[in-house]
Amino acid sequence: MSWRLECGACGRPVPRGLATVCPDCGKPLLARYELGTLDGAALRRAWAGRPADMWRYREIMPIEADEAPVTLGEGGTPLLELELGGDFDGLTLLVKDEGLNPTGSFKDRGLCAAVTRAVHEGASDFVIPSAGNAGAALAAYAARAGASARLFIPEDTPEGVARRCDHYGAEVVRVDGLIDECGRLSAEYAEATGAFNISTLKEPYRIEGKKTMMLEIVESLGWRAPDAIVYPTGGGTGLIGSHKTLSELRDLGLIDGTTRLYAVQGSGCAPIVRAHQAGATHAEPWRDASTEAWGLRVPGALGDFLMLDALRESGGGAVAVSDEAMRAAALELGAAGVGAAIEGGATLAAARELRRSGELRDEETVVLFNTAHLLTY
Ligand SMILES: Cc1ncc(COP(=O)(O)O)c(C=O)c1O
Repeated sequence: MSWRLECGACGRPVPRGLATVCPDCGKPLLARYELGTLDGAALRRAWAGRPADMWRYREIMPIEADEAPVTLGEGGTPLLELELGGDFDGLTLLVKDEGLNPTGSFKDRGLCAAVTRAVHEGASDFVIPSAGNAGAALAAYAARAGASARLFIPEDTPEGVARRCDHYGAEVVRVDGLIDECGRLSAEYAEATGAFNISTLKEPYRIEGKKTMMLEIVESLGWRAPDAIVYPTGGGTGLIGSHKTLSELRDLGLIDGTTRLYAVQGSGCAPIVRAHQAGATHAEPWRDASTEAWGLRVPGALGDFLMLDALRESGGGAVAVSDEAMRAAALELGAAGVGAAIEGGATLAAARELRRSGELRDEETVVLFNTAHLLTY
């Protein structure tokens, strides 16, 4: 399959190669496929006959027909129905359990796609700022590709999270600061050494890997889009990827209707929630960001405008929840047999608020994202 790249903000076409951000405005690039040349029904049949990993959707992924991905068996995770009763009586509540990916989080999908592309274009050294999960995923996929990886992680990242990154042989640098400071150091390191900076939305392909979560959900539901999804939002690749996939599937004639996208953030770091509630098109950086959900501790995101567009265009919304509520909800998922990280708990806590406020209605199908396994902490 063939694809092209264009800027997600100004629309400028950008050559493929080892692509980063828009050379004009510095905003994220998006991959665009020739969907008009594809037969949706034929694709659906072809996908059904392939192994249940994320590359089964390769016709709408950034990979050449004869190219082998750098893979560890990512994707194909379960979509589990939750029977929690109480507030959730009357609707179908499902959880996409991304903790079952090779390094224990949904980050595997994005880093798998991005490393595959970058290695194909000649990269052999990578650098990333990370709260832990993306770092572990990069470390694993770089190792798989025979490439090197340097990770900048906040000093207060839990020891278990940091040790996972060491495990795959990456060079881990602990930084006195938050993810934005790690981002600055990664950019400097890339500039000084020529390493490829695979930071969130600094290249276009992590979104393409993440979008396969939504493809799997729609396929599992018999090519029906859910009414709503609740997604724990940091840098936003999963949210942006979900919105992009739904639009691609509509263009292919495989689904109709819209899915409302809801972002959930921690109340100690909720720039997207604040901006959405203010009706803004960009998010001001959040000061003194603090939440135990490390993956959601992103004070300012490069793709803020894309996330806010996705929430608005889908008719969804944004909710902030406390760390206590996330923790309690993660335990509730545990009691239902799902080993959820606190970010997964955040989606259940938010869904309960959305249900109580009448946003999630009877008879609807609602999907939560457990983005990482309990053991990643
Ligand atoms: C477990 C977990 N959930 C959610 C997120 C936020 O993901 P995104 O960057 O797609 O918004 C992260 C990011 O680090 C994470 O590690």
